[in-house]
Amino acid sequence: MRPADVRDPGEDDTDATPPAHYGSLEAIEREAFALLSRGANDRRSACHTTVFVTSGLDGCPAARTVVLRGFAPEPPMISVHTDIRSGKIAELAENDRAAAVFYDPDSKVQIRASGACSIHHKDPVAQSVWDRLGVSARRTYLGAPPGDLSDQPTSGLPEFLETNAASLEQSERGFEHFAILGLHVRTLEWLYLCARGHRRARFSWAKNGGKRTATWLVP
Ligand SMILES: Cc1cc2nc3c(=O)[nH]c(=O)nc-3n(C[C@H](O)[C@H](O)[C@H](O)COP(=O)(O)O)c2cc1C
Repeated sequence: MRPADVRDPGEDDTDATPPAHYGSLEAIEREAFALLSRGANDRRSACHTTVFVTSGLDGCPAARTVVLRGFAPEPPMISVHTDIRSGKIAELAENDRAAAVFYDPDSKVQIRASGACSIHHKDPVAQSVWDRLGVSARRTYLGAPPGDLSDQPTSGLPEFLETNAASLEQSERGFEHFAILGLHVRTLEWLYLCARGHRRARFSWAKNGGKRTATWLVP
């Protein structure tokens, strides 16, 4: 039996006034975009990290946690920073489709986004973001390829960086490995948990930012 104070999300709010998005697809879209924008800009937001899913090279789904670095609403695009040598990049070269799932426990909202990915690497877009990264963020890109085998415990960093911060000049070497992954959202699903009845909706965008359609779904 569960302790009395352990409740599932949405279990205990029958009397609460439902939020504006309870009955409006337009309000849901606004709220979803607001959650994702906050996630990209506020490291305390639950949507600051997401589970990002690709198709593994063996055909199994491959999921990992990443930080949401950017969200643009029109047309919707989710941005993530990564290492060009990481497994997900090889997977996206085979199949550019990906999905990201977010859950915000404060608003009891799950967002599932899926679409096709594009990658910026050693181009002006990557360069302008890289130029604004601090030395500690750049450090991530100064080590050995992520996922490489090692016969001993390792951070992957060169020895001199194990105990020292990189200089700005040394950090520049990381640009070679830095990539920005853009998930161009074609489908966004919203699920709101509520004791009086959950709400689920789906938004779809035509290719290249074309018309969006929206519909309710049975939760
Ligand atoms: C909290 C957290 C945040 C992470 N953020 C990122 C990120 O923004 N980008 C990234 O490539 N990996 C990030 N990682 C590491 C990934 O989960 C994963 O281990 C790495 O990207 C290699 O995955 P891959 O081999 O499937 O490409 C993060 C891990 C954690 C636990």
